[in-house]
Amino acid sequence: MASRVYIAVSSFARQAPEPLNILKQSGLGVDINTAGRRLTKEEVMGNARGYHGIIAGLEPYDAQVLEALPDLKCISRCGVGVDNIDLEAADKKGIKIFTTPDVVVQPVVELTLAMILNLLRKITQQDLLMRGHQWQRMIGSQLAGKTVGIIGLGRIGRKVAEILLLLGARVVGYDVHPDRAWAEGCGVSLVDLDQVLSCCDILTLHLAAKAGDHFVLTRQHFQAMKKGALLINVARGTFVDEKALLEALQEGHLSGAGLDVFQQEPYAGPLSSCPQVVLTPHVGSFTQESRVAMEMEAAQNIVGFFNK
Ligand code: DGY
Repeated sequence: MASRVYIAVSSFARQAPEPLNILKQSGLGVDINTAGRRLTKEEVMGNARGYHGIIAGLEPYDAQVLEALPDLKCISRCGVGVDNIDLEAADKKGIKIFTTPDVVVQPVVELTLAMILNLLRKITQQDLLMRGHQWQRMIGSQLAGKTVGIIGLGRIGRKVAEILLLLGARVVGYDVHPDRAWAEGCGVSLVDLDQVLSCCDILTLHLAAKAGDHFVLTRQHFQAMKKGALLINVARGTFVDEKALLEALQEGHLSGAGLDVFQQEPYAGPLSSCPQVVLTPHVGSFTQESRVAMEMEAAQNIVGFFNK
């Protein structure tokens, strides 16, 4: 009997048919999530039962879910974060995990840059004023000469650093296992967490999304930042205490934030009423180009696994 693959990603093959064709032509039995949204834990346990492989988005695969899917041999993430998967439980059950780490770099780097420039030039705020027929020029500031702090210097953090340096920013970075040769070669100062917080005008988070990682920016961290600094988070909502961020913005300690990710998604909390915040609905890797490339890679990974 052919192995069966459940595609949990509801937007799979919407941009191009090729990723679905790869799966079908390989002889695998294929079904797709037709809910049109991210599945709940209960839905994953129900819908994916009996399948041998899953093309996964951000829906949960904790130990209980994996236990409820006894036939599962492989999860192929369409993306890079694995914070939605209990890797230890998967390992114990012999479930192989694949991700698409390289494809997501460019779109996430570009969104980071877009957030930074938007906040510095107050693009969203002025756009909203003009739609209300108000011609009110708000003074902006330039990226060149600013100090940008990067927490997490993996593929994405390093590329963000390289582009910011080209645009004339100074970059300081913090990572538990930094690539010192890379940092020295391109002129990024590696410092500790306290130093990043205290010296940057803009802080951007690019930590890897893994279940069980407990990095969180709290009120104490925000207080340690320069008055007027900006925060960008296009990594994971769990890295920021949203209540503390809201307070820091309302008190005027931080002057703005660019957020693509939230503790609870879809997000409908109070940060959306804050004019100094630019929000997007977790679209870091959601570009035409990267979606197709991610889906192709996720499909090839799972076909390679079952046809080896
Ligand atoms: C990722 O790659 O983890 C993005 O957050 C989208 O899935």
